[in-house]
Amino acid sequence: MDFTSLNRIAVAIALTAGAGLLCWEAGSFLVPDTAPLHPAVTIPHPESKPSTAPVKQETPPADLAQEGAKIASMQCAMCHTFTADSPDTVGPSLWGVGARHIASKNGYSYSDALTAHKGERWTKDTLSAWLTNPAEFAPGTRMMFPGVSDENTRARIIAWLLTLDATTPDSTKAPQTEKTHDVSPPPPAGNAEHGAALGQQQCAMCHSFDPDGPAIVGPPLHDIFGRQIAAFTGYTYSDAIKGVKGSWTPDQLDAWLKDPGQVAPGTKMMFPGVSSQSDRDDIIAWLKTLAAQTPKAQP
Ligand code: HEC
Ligand code: HEC
Repeated sequence: MDFTSLNRIAVAIALTAGAGLLCWEAGSFLVPDTAPLHPAVTIPHPESKPSTAPVKQETPPADLAQEGAKIASMQCAMCHTFTADSPDTVGPSLWGVGARHIASKNGYSYSDALTAHKGERWTKDTLSAWLTNPAEFAPGTRMMFPGVSDENTRARIIAWLLTLDATTPDSTKAPQTEKTHDVSPPPPAGNAEHGAALGQQQCAMCHSFDPDGPAIVGPPLHDIFGRQIAAFTGYTYSDAIKGVKGSWTPDQLDAWLKDPGQVAPGTKMMFPGVSSQSDRDDIIAWLKTLAAQTPKAQP
């Protein structure tokens, strides 16, 4: 992939993030946290024909969750946060949602509609019913969201939601083994072009790689190679990563990409890790090429 198209993608992501922020602002304005909301307008829900096609089962759970993360960053992030200790915004933080009872997060004031379900837990089934049509699951809910009618899309979002907690049973977590990479034989080590493709798939929903790119879910990474750890001034890092000293050397990047939670226990980077050594080598080779470019010297 050349850097022009890379930049185009990064700009598109940045614009999406910007639009998300705008929606959030608008949402906070339209949906004040305090007043119980009676929707003046009912958002029309596209008549969901429950798809008769069975949910595809072949995709490994790690990939499902990764796709779900991407979808959630577009459809849910304007109203919800997903990381440990992140604040409630329009909706409650969804960190650990798979381990809690419905409408049970301390400090968030739920509608009576959702509170009526308090005796139930958030499982695959209740999440699926909720996300299909929140207003049908809990008539009068404050979640002004038309629903996700596509079963496969819901399955991906739910797979992602269920990874958002250290206490979730292992079966719902991304496997830490080489298994997910069995399908394609690893390319030669340090292939920056393959690294760029991996970066777009696995990192770009949370990071900008553009020169002077913005913080999205995580800090921008254009000049990350060799940068001091947790040093981008416009980003609020977790205390966990702020406690890690030094700079991003190849070894440090390798350890981080293998398992961020190992390098900085409690980090906000909710990422299962890149288990394949050669994939990590490729990503690092790519990050190095980014740092080598002078901003604005792009074609
Ligand atoms: C326009 C804002 C908005 C959007 C977009 C939105 N939500 Fe919500 N969400 C809310 C609000 C507000 C609540 C609280 C509902 C209530 O109290 O009735 C909520 C509640 C929830 C809950 C219940 C949490 C709990 O603690 O019981 C889940 C789960 C949830 N949302 C998931 C999602 C997912 C997944 C998406 C994206 C597919 C999404 N939401 C999109 C505003 C939103
Ligand atoms: C789900 C969102 C998400 C994904 C996906 C993700 N990251 Fe992150 N990343 C973050 C967050 C959030 C932080 C800040 C961590 C903290 O403050 O604890 C971060 C921090 C980092 C840092 C440290 C930055 C610094 O300034 O010190 C690096 C390096 C990094 N990520 C690389 C990557 C790479 C490479 C990928 C893809 C293989 C990736 N991340 C995927 C969210 C993500």
